[in-house]
Amino acid sequence: MEEKIPTHVGIILDGNGRWATSRGLKRSEGHKEGFETLKILAKYILKKGVKILSVFAFSTENFKRSKEEVDYLMNLFIKGFKGSISEFNSNNIKVVFSGRKEPLSDDVWNAMKEMEDGTKDNTGGILNICLNYGGRAEIVDTTKKLINKVINNEISIEDITEETIEKNLYHDLPPIDLLIRTSGEVRVSNFMLYQMAYAEMYFPDTYFPDFKESEFDKALLYYNSRDRRFGGIKK
Ligand code: IPE
Ligand code: IPE
Ligand code: MG
Repeated sequence: MEEKIPTHVGIILDGNGRWATSRGLKRSEGHKEGFETLKILAKYILKKGVKILSVFAFSTENFKRSKEEVDYLMNLFIKGFKGSISEFNSNNIKVVFSGRKEPLSDDVWNAMKEMEDGTKDNTGGILNICLNYGGRAEIVDTTKKLINKVINNEISIEDITEETIEKNLYHDLPPIDLLIRTSGEVRVSNFMLYQMAYAEMYFPDTYFPDFKESEFDKALLYYNSRDRRFGGIKK
């Protein structure tokens, strides 16, 4: 049977800290390695024919971590984004971000905008990086956006359907077909709640920095073994 390629893959990239501590390294080393893995994976997954890869890089709740860890991550984002625009361009990958501005610093925000601007014309797949992102926050922000459209007479209440909600999320993207969370945790931790309603879910034990090409191939095999019914009856 022909291999089915999901249109939209979501990855909750977890286990950077444990990857590092299990090697006697500082947690920050795990984040650095995780960023390298992300670039390798994005290239591989989008070349396979997946149209959109959404990754959870930093949650709204991750600000609860130590200042040292949060600062490290923010600097990694600034340097990492600026330093990889040309790499994403040579792989024809368009990068977009999902998440709230506050309380990100202008330096982080500007690096995100530079990345979006610098890759906006690429056509070889979308990498959606969820940064300062929360699934509940996205639903709140979408609700406010839609209420504003009603107040401004751009749409009526009757126009609010599942489709209009989907179109007014941070980005107008199709639902997630395959959700992967690395590191053995079996929870969604506030990632793309609306988009994952019918996602197939795969929870490998591998820590994210070790989740390379062959690990994704295993996820794809798993996906292909599933029978997606969407509430219907098995044929
Ligand atoms: C995922 O790895 C990256 C972020 C959440 C920023 P973690 O940092 O959560 O790693 P563990 O779960 O502590 O091992
Ligand atoms: C989820 O990982 C968020 C990201 C991967 C960015 P966490 O490590 O923050 O999640 P919990 O705390 O284990 O649920
Ligand atoms: Mg974690």
